[in-house]
Amino acid sequence: MAATERPTKARSFGENIESDLAAKLLRVVETAAIASARTMGKGERKLSDQVATEAMRRTMESIPMRGTIVIGEGERDQAPMLYIGEKVGAEFPDGPDVPEIDIAVDPLEGTNLCATGAAGAITVLAASERGGLLYAPDCYMEKIVVGPSCKNAIDLDAPVADNLENLAKRLKRDVEDLVVVVLDRPRHDQLIADIRKAGARIRLIGDGDLSAGIAAAVEGTGVHAVMGSGGAPEGVITAAAVRCVNGYMLGRLVINTPELEERIARMGIADKNKIYEAEDLAPGKQLIFAATGVTDGALMKGVRFFGEGIRTSSVIMTLRTSKVRFVESIHLEKGPDVRVKF
Ligand code: FBP
Repeated sequence: MAATERPTKARSFGENIESDLAAKLLRVVETAAIASARTMGKGERKLSDQVATEAMRRTMESIPMRGTIVIGEGERDQAPMLYIGEKVGAEFPDGPDVPEIDIAVDPLEGTNLCATGAAGAITVLAASERGGLLYAPDCYMEKIVVGPSCKNAIDLDAPVADNLENLAKRLKRDVEDLVVVVLDRPRHDQLIADIRKAGARIRLIGDGDLSAGIAAAVEGTGVHAVMGSGGAPEGVITAAAVRCVNGYMLGRLVINTPELEERIARMGIADKNKIYEAEDLAPGKQLIFAATGVTDGALMKGVRFFGEGIRTSSVIMTLRTSKVRFVESIHLEKGPDVRVKF
C-alpha cells in the first residue's frame, strides 16, 4: 500500500448520509418549530424567524457532520447565522469520518403566518451530499408543482387553461374539481384570472408556497397544483421533497434586473431562461427533507404545548432509502411526573 493511501474501513460514517443523519436533522426542525411556535401571534415576524434560526443553528452544532449552508438566511454580511457558506455541525477530527453535506434551510417558512397565527408555517431543511442542491440566487422563480400522476402534463409556457385541462385528464376529473394554490400577490392577477376563467378552484395563500408545494406533490391533500412565482430558494427545498415523493415540478428563475444577471453569471448559470425540473434543482443522489409544522397545515399539525411537554408533527423524507415518515413527537420536559397523553 502506498504511504499516502488511507486504509479501507468496513463502512465509513457518512457513506449513507440519509441513514446517518435523517433522525438528527429531524431534531433540528423540531427545535426550530418549538422556538418559533412560542412566538405565534405576537405580530413579530423577525423575532419568530430569529428564534427559529437560533434554535436550528444550536441544534446543528450537536450533530456530527461537516455541513455547508448553501441556501440560508442570506449572504454573510446580512445574516448573523445560517448564512450562505457557513460551516455547521460538530466535527470530531480524531473520531470517525463525518459526512460532508450541503444544507438548504428555511428556518421559518411563512414568517407572517407564524406572526399572525395563520395556517401553514413550517420549519424546513433539505440536505444532500456536496453539490446535491442548486445554489439558487435569492430571486423569484416561476413554479408549477404537481403530484406523481401529473408528470410531464404541464408546461411553464403553455396557456393556464391547457395545463389545467391536462391535469384534470390525468387526475380523471373535471377542471372544475381541481384546487390550485396561488400566492395572493398583485403579480398573480392575470394568473388568477386565467385559472378562474378555466373554471378551476383557487386557494389563495398569504405566504408559504413551499408547504403548498409539498401538499401538491402528495396525493390526497386536496391540493392539485401550485402555480405562480415565489422564492427560488424555497423552490430548491420544494424540489428536494418533490423528488422524495415522486412528484413533478418545473421552475424558471425570474432574472429581471442587470444585478441579477450579473449575479447568476458569477454563479455559473449560463442560461437565465432555463427550465428546471426537480432533478436539476435538487440533483443529489442522497436527499433528506425534514419539516415540522409551526402552525396547522395540510400535512402537519402545528406545535402544541401542554402541561408536561410539547407535541410536534413532522415529516422526514429520504430519497435513496425511499422513506416518507410522518413523525409525531412528544417532548417531555418537565421531570419525573410527566404523563403522556395519546
Ligand atoms: P418568509 O417565510 O420569508 O416570510 O417567505 C414566505 C414566502 O411566502 C414564501 O413561501 C414564498 O416563496 C415567498 O415568501 C414569496 O415572496 P413574496 O412575499 O416576495 O411574494
